[in-house]
Amino acid sequence: MLVNPRSDENGTSVPRPGSERVALRGDLRSALPDAAAAVVVTAAVFALLWARMESGTSDTVAVMPFMDDPGTYWMYLLSQAFGWSGLLWAWGTVMLGLLLSGPGPGRLPVSRQALERWHRTTSLTTMALMFAHALMFAAELVRYEAQLGWAERLWAGFADTFVPGWYDSGTGRIAIPLGQGALYLAIPLGLLFYVRHRIGANTWRRLHRFVIVVYVLSVWHTLLYGTNVWYGEWPRTVLWLLQLPVAALLVLRLLRPARRGERLTAPGARAGVTWPTWTARAAGRIAAGAVVVGLLLVVASGRDGGRERPAEPPATQPHAHETD
Ligand code: HEM
Repeated sequence: MLVNPRSDENGTSVPRPGSERVALRGDLRSALPDAAAAVVVTAAVFALLWARMESGTSDTVAVMPFMDDPGTYWMYLLSQAFGWSGLLWAWGTVMLGLLLSGPGPGRLPVSRQALERWHRTTSLTTMALMFAHALMFAAELVRYEAQLGWAERLWAGFADTFVPGWYDSGTGRIAIPLGQGALYLAIPLGLLFYVRHRIGANTWRRLHRFVIVVYVLSVWHTLLYGTNVWYGEWPRTVLWLLQLPVAALLVLRLLRPARRGERLTAPGARAGVTWPTWTARAAGRIAAGAVVVGLLLVVASGRDGGRERPAEPPATQPHAHETD
């Protein structure tokens, strides 16, 4: 049923003629152990968030004091937990993808085929976790709007969560569309792989590289809106620090691409390498290097966009719909 991938002359795996379909169903089955691990991680994060809320050390409660009751707000906590496992899986699958399209496994004791399989299964799990995060947020909104009729409650939860531009309060006016952008881009960019025999491998490859945008949007959304990384303290620093290996691997991927055709060769040295192509490639490498430097500066300077923790609980809250 599944492909025996082989490498083309550029070092990129391509399907054997006649067996190019890597069945989505097969990958979904292979993703089960990975998804089970994600559920365990989500449960652990949920337990931690619950314990922090109960012990009075929750940053979510510091930002939104009315939430001081895990029994009532458990769906919100579960949404946060899925957000964190989703981000962790996104981190992992992006790292695997950059490794595959860049320097390859190198001395790692794992084959390219195994890395490709993990990349596919972890990306499927990531999509499911992102969706579960949004779904639990919608469920919490439906629970919260108890004064409305069922149809209105369902609509309010759905629209605030899934309709871009609908959520109209505070930071969420920017942060929620960023999250929606990540979710809505992740699904086609991830799943196009399974129809690449129809759209062509080159088109798929060109589109798939934009998946890095999904990751950037996810991190941006979290830094902007996550109450557990709200203040300029160590959890936020750790989140910034975790982006360093991704940026470093991106630089490496650009400097040592698996496909020979993507290397930075002088204009005219090979067919198709014109001055604009060369300039764009060189600019991409410089920009990726600048991101590494920027991340180091953010971590070293502590200017990470974190808010100051107020001495008194805040009068304003980020999710005003829940405070009305
Ligand atoms: C429809 C799309 C999305 C919606 C409506 C949404 C909604 C939210 C909300 C309301 C919060 C604030 C929770 C808090 O108080 O901390 C949040 C935080 C967060 N979101 Fe999303 N999000 C979406 C997409 C995503 C995506 C694609 C990711 C990537 C994995 C993500 C990861 C996170 C993370 C890690 C947090 C921080 C949670 C915390 O601080 O505990 N979100 N999101």
